[in-house]
Amino acid sequence: MGFPWGLDLGSQNCVVAIARKGGIDVIDNEASSRKTPCMVGLGGRERGLGEAAKSKITSNIKNTVADVKTLIGRKWSETGVQQLAKTLPWELKEGPNGGILISLMYEKEGDECKKTDFTPEQILAMLLVNLKQTAENHNKSPSPDCVISVPCFFNDSQRRAVLSAAEIAGVKCLRLMNDTAATALNWGLPKSMDFPDDTAAPKHVLFYDMGYTSTQCCLVAFTKTKMTVLASAFDRELGGRHFDRCMLDFFAEYWKTKAKLNLFDNPKSVFRLETQVDKIKQQLSGYSSNTKLPCNVECLQDDQDFHHSIELDQWVEMTKPLVDRCLEPVKQVFAATKLMFDQVEEVEVVGSATRSPLVVNALRDFLGKEPKRTMNSEEAVSKGCALNAAMLSPNFKVREFGIIDCTCYSVALGWTPGAGEMEVEGKRDTVFGQYNVVPSAKLLTFMRTQGFDITAAYSEPQELTEGMPTEIGHWAVTGVGPAADGGPSKIKVKVRMDANGIFSVDTAQVVEEVEPEPAPEAPKEEDKGGDAAMPDAAADAPAEAAPEPAGAEKEAAPAEGGEKKKKKKKEGSDGEDDGEEKKKKKEKKKKAEESDSWDDDWGDVDTSEAAVAARSAALGGVDQDALAAKMDKAAKVADAAPADDSDSGGGAPGPPPP
Ligand SMILES: Nc1ncnc2c1ncn2[C@@H]1O[C@H](COP(=O)(O)OP(=O)(O)OP(=O)(O)O)[C@@H](O)[C@H]1O
Ligand SMILES: [Mg+2]
Repeated sequence: MGFPWGLDLGSQNCVVAIARKGGIDVIDNEASSRKTPCMVGLGGRERGLGEAAKSKITSNIKNTVADVKTLIGRKWSETGVQQLAKTLPWELKEGPNGGILISLMYEKEGDECKKTDFTPEQILAMLLVNLKQTAENHNKSPSPDCVISVPCFFNDSQRRAVLSAAEIAGVKCLRLMNDTAATALNWGLPKSMDFPDDTAAPKHVLFYDMGYTSTQCCLVAFTKTKMTVLASAFDRELGGRHFDRCMLDFFAEYWKTKAKLNLFDNPKSVFRLETQVDKIKQQLSGYSSNTKLPCNVECLQDDQDFHHSIELDQWVEMTKPLVDRCLEPVKQVFAATKLMFDQVEEVEVVGSATRSPLVVNALRDFLGKEPKRTMNSEEAVSKGCALNAAMLSPNFKVREFGIIDCTCYSVALGWTPGAGEMEVEGKRDTVFGQYNVVPSAKLLTFMRTQGFDITAAYSEPQELTEGMPTEIGHWAVTGVGPAADGGPSKIKVKVRMDANGIFSVDTAQVVEEVEPEPAPEAPKEEDKGGDAAMPDAAADAPAEAAPEPAGAEKEAAPAEGGEKKKKKKKEGSDGEDDGEEKKKKKEKKKKAEESDSWDDDWGDVDTSEAAVAARSAALGGVDQDALAAKMDKAAKVADAAPADDSDSGGGAPGPPPP
């Protein structure tokens, strides 16, 4: 039996954890290491993956891609990508559709060794093959099912690219999970029985993760049955790498005066000095009073040896601006949730860069609370992913626990106006605000006589990186004609932010309005429950989920004002719907149709597990019935969560502060 596994897809290191009957274990790779370098090296016909790529990097630096995660799903237009292109030892160039390509020397079978272009997805897929192999070697069986972590700030394009890479690699990604949520799940699930009941005030915990390239932070509310990420914040450009760079610049300056050489002219020299810098940085983390540590590299550049040293006090001074930035994401999550510091019971740190006392001290001084490290900093994310993979696997029995995450970016929709409506260029309405519950779905109602286009885009460009395209996608709703009475048809469009954090337009259905048959024996309230008195099974059909049968929706007119929440009425259940009422409704509907207004229904909430069940079913290969049953159960747990996503304006979901 293939065991499900979890993958912490890091920038520097990847960690694989598997779910077994006895619990979750992090597993060793072929070099007996619990973490695998995020590197892919090509050379001739060979492909070095992970450890193999790292072991040859000094002799193959121009053909070794490290940290492909930073490139995945990004566009050439992004300022950060252009800057990276100038510093990387291999060629990065513009690819099709504004994407990027990585140019490496590679020898295809029957061909000479020459520059070959790869997409970041292809490179990541190569690495995923190696990581899947690690899981399978351990399990001694095929293990396709896995949950992969991504930073909470990954946008739609980045998330889709990770899924494509998984598909290329033959990895069945049951779900993408934000690093932040995976950490919180790994921390919270084992303790869940000790958390407050759903009716009581939840336990609030702050999670802080500083890795190699970025920092993420989230505030989570825990109860016995679920965890809710109330808000997450991040700094894409603050991680161990940026601390390294301070020391590297310091040494490079010295090298310039001493050897009259520019270190950055030679990528191999940079890599060798960087390796030393990383070691010194980690050693400095162990000192509390001033100390001086040497840095020596033989034949660093042009056969000249490098000898210098750095003091702790100098280190503290040069990294002060970075340490000050550490607190920004923390401030943002508190501002978003409106919680006070003393309402947060615990602060938990993960990510290896938080091993620096400079970071932990800054957090303690700011929050007035000692940050704890009760989990393994390097393994918490992978274990959280493996736990989630086990929850999604029909072969495992894990305590039911809802996972409710949130979006980092606001998503807005624009659409072609209906007849008589003014086209307002660039006009879009926010459907999923920042910190909106994930996963969730919303139902929009349009009145149209013909097909129309929908575009989705990030509505707050300041939340994105410079140059990142705001456009998410474009959908055409076709096959729409006038209604039977010649007026506009009612079209219900379901948009979704799925458990992977990916936006999509799910379905578009024309809803036919059918006048209710005059009920011969309108069921009275007291008749309810009496089998013989039930007039129509459709009357009690679930109000949401499955596609609505034509005529089941009896709502007469779209609600005025886009933000209003609509109350659904069921056919034949309303005995007071007299002639006068109907007339008023008809008039209202006519008015709405004339102005071709639109209507929304914010109450349609999905659950992560259900969404994953659908995805898993599409992928095939697992016992679908067992999985579906498991999803159903899990969905009930998640449904008990704060499902009201009506606040498209972006208020933090979840329970109010105690
Ligand atoms: N003792 C230490 N003191 C300071 N920094 C450390 C220490 N140990 C490791 N680091 C730094 O932690 C960083 C790697 O952290 P981690 O393994 O969590 O990153 P990652 O998960 O690969 O990256 P990311 O989460 O950004 O994608 C490196 O920059 C490393 O130098
Ligand atoms: Mg990480």
